[in-house]
Amino acid sequence: MKVLSILVVLLTLIYFSLFRNPLPDIQRNVCERIRSKNYPCELLNTTTEDGFVIGIHHLSNPGGKPILLWHGMLQNAATWAMNFPSQDLIYLLHDAGFDVYLGNARGTIYSQKHNSLDPKNDSKEYWERCEFDYGSRYDLPAVIDYILENTGYQKLGYVGHSRGSTLMSVLLTEKPEYSYKVNLYVALSPPVFVANTKSPAIRLINQALKNLYVNDLFSLFGVHSLGIKNPVLIKMFTEVCKTTPIVCEFAVFMFAGWDFDNFNRTRIPIYISNPETIPIQDLNHGLQCVNKGLFGKYDFGSEKNIEIYGQATAPLYDLSKIPHDGTKWMIYYGGNDIMVVPEDVDTLVKELDPRVLYSKPIFLPKFSHLDFVWGTNANKFIYYDVVKAMLKQDFGKISK
Ligand SMILES: *[C@@H]1O[C@H](CO)[C@@H](O)[C@H](O)[C@H]1NC(C)=O
Ligand SMILES: *[C@@H]1O[C@H](CO)[C@@H](O)[C@H](O)[C@H]1NC(C)=O
Ligand SMILES: *[C@@H]1O[C@H](CO)[C@@H](O)[C@H](O)[C@H]1NC(C)=O
Repeated sequence: MKVLSILVVLLTLIYFSLFRNPLPDIQRNVCERIRSKNYPCELLNTTTEDGFVIGIHHLSNPGGKPILLWHGMLQNAATWAMNFPSQDLIYLLHDAGFDVYLGNARGTIYSQKHNSLDPKNDSKEYWERCEFDYGSRYDLPAVIDYILENTGYQKLGYVGHSRGSTLMSVLLTEKPEYSYKVNLYVALSPPVFVANTKSPAIRLINQALKNLYVNDLFSLFGVHSLGIKNPVLIKMFTEVCKTTPIVCEFAVFMFAGWDFDNFNRTRIPIYISNPETIPIQDLNHGLQCVNKGLFGKYDFGSEKNIEIYGQATAPLYDLSKIPHDGTKWMIYYGGNDIMVVPEDVDTLVKELDPRVLYSKPIFLPKFSHLDFVWGTNANKFIYYDVVKAMLKQDFGKISK
């Protein structure tokens, strides 16, 4: 009897979640989602120096000051359009008059094209170039210069979540001249130092691959990028998340951490409906940073390091090269974030010249790694202040 009633309740739940709650955003691409909320959206593109065609979503506000937002790992620009206009940063920025641009990292569905390489036919070369060092040195400059040229402003504001903030942190050390093109940089849960990450998923993968050259191992099998790209599998996951959100919550929380208060469980199928892949070399580079406890370039092994870097060890990204009179940093981090933990953010803050900080780094005790983009209260805890800070910035004169 008890089993029967549980079954009835379950079936009712499944029925209601499948047929009564269609969550139309699942089927929508980035621009369709944004337009469905009555905001403008177009997909622009620019080509990097090394041949990648980078897709840029644009919520136009003609004459408005430009802001560029960049997503994290396994994500694309969709990460910024998960909730409602009162909740998501892109809409709040647009309402405040900003001209809003969303980057898409090389290798994601909106930035798959390359002048000569094909992700399938030239799998190895293509995906090796999707590692974050290349993304920092090529994608960001191409997109920043494209925006500045097209708007006539001298500077823009930047918001990076997770890997999106790694990219900017690397850019500012590798091409310090970009310090003078980005006036305010909002780093949401920035993985720069990651030695103490507690993410069970990351720890598990790391343990499994430790001491192996994963690149070579996967190359052997012709795998250069990991992820769920099969539409049938994605559909299956979406259905599982609709009917039994707890399963998907668990998967999400294994990576990112727990925070039930700030997370809209009903919308989990939307959050996971558009997964990207992880390029193996990118994953490997991230794990090297975890294992060495250092913020450095990709380690190819001493022989190839000498060939590429002219030294046996991989060089570090030198945070002291960042000019103190350029970009100002606004750092946010969370107490329930198991991916980027507070002690690692403390290390970053210690390594930075204090003069680059816009304000004291802001610690949100309840926030997990994904609350910074998907949290229903991120507006109150972060976004209103970000909009205010951006409004105070001088973006330079319009030159045309
Ligand atoms: C890039 O934008 C141009 C101009 O709008 C368009 O003609 C072209 O098809 C786009 N390329 C890709 C790869 O989307
Ligand atoms: C990839 O290879 C296949 C088979 O060799 C070929 O038909 C196709 O045109 C290639 N695609 C590109 C983009 O080079
Ligand atoms: C959570 O998502 C559902 C489904 O889209 C929506 O109806 C509800 O208003 C959302 N709740 C919050 C607090 O945003």
